[in-house]
Amino acid sequence: MTKRGKDILKATELLKAGKNVAIPTETVYGLAANAYNLEAVLQIFSIKNRPKFDPLIVHTHSLDAVSEFVTDFPECSKQLLEAFGPGPLTVVLPKKDTIDDLVTSGLPNVAVRIPNHALTLELLKALPFPLAAPSANPFTYVSPTNAQHVLDQLGDKIAYVLDGGDCEVGIESTIVREFPEYLAVLRLGGISLEDLEKVSTKPVKLLSSGEAGSSPGNFKKHYATQTPMFLDASKSGSDAAKTGYIRFKDYLVGVPENRQELLAQDGSTYTAARNLFNTLRKMDKSGFTQIIAEKLPETGLGKAVNDRLQRASQ
Ligand code: TXA
Ligand code: MG
Repeated sequence: MTKRGKDILKATELLKAGKNVAIPTETVYGLAANAYNLEAVLQIFSIKNRPKFDPLIVHTHSLDAVSEFVTDFPECSKQLLEAFGPGPLTVVLPKKDTIDDLVTSGLPNVAVRIPNHALTLELLKALPFPLAAPSANPFTYVSPTNAQHVLDQLGDKIAYVLDGGDCEVGIESTIVREFPEYLAVLRLGGISLEDLEKVSTKPVKLLSSGEAGSSPGNFKKHYATQTPMFLDASKSGSDAAKTGYIRFKDYLVGVPENRQELLAQDGSTYTAARNLFNTLRKMDKSGFTQIIAEKLPETGLGKAVNDRLQRASQ
């Protein structure tokens, strides 16, 4: 059976039959299931080896569709989804009973996203239910940004990968939750803090992992390569010949260029985000004993990329 293609009808039929399908989004590939089919949702946790306390994002195609499964859609959240949706923004909202506790890990809120990818939007419009979907990688490993990444790790466990090419944004969505006094950022991602601040009618507050109200899945260690990675070179080992370097835009002088990967030759933090996970996977397969990564400037998506590098590091 062909496991990969652009066949929306096939993806629709599989999902309606309670199967899991990997779907492209502008951020990373998701491992999708009918959000209303508990067997299909359970399957996601088992394929990813993901703990049940880490809730799933529910994906849909429009603001109207969001209203079908939330009890309240506060003004600031609505404005943000209007401004950035379809796009790399996830908004946490109070859920209706139609969304089972399994999807939200028992939380009274559901994380909602309208992804910006033509194939997946078409798929979502063709389905009579929303899709619960985490990133399509084994739990704690690097997220997939193309169909091959998904097949490399989960190929034998899923029915089909809807192939939408390389992800444009390359890191996961920014997750926000509105409180009476402020807008909390639960996870940095594809929408920069600067852009959020331009649209949010409430002050934006970045929550750190473990802080009250932060995402259950916001682990300190995440997105990790198998090869140990360091942001602080002084903590790394001394095996210079087998060290790989991840650099922002310039090669490190004195180190052969075949041991270095540049995230963004054009110096853009958006380009760096797009290349990040592919670069981590490539480095992980290159036979290095350790990887040393350079931090990005903290503007644009730099802060979100640094967050991923930090979590992937020792
Ligand atoms: O860009 C993305 O968001 C991708 C694509 C596939 O849409 N999805 C993604 O899903 O990154 P996942 O499962 O890898 O990460 C979702 C994060 C987790 O950290 C989880 O704890 C948090 O969202 N989350 C989900 N539901 C939540 C809720 N009700 N309240 C707070 N955090 C929630
Ligand atoms: Mg993930």
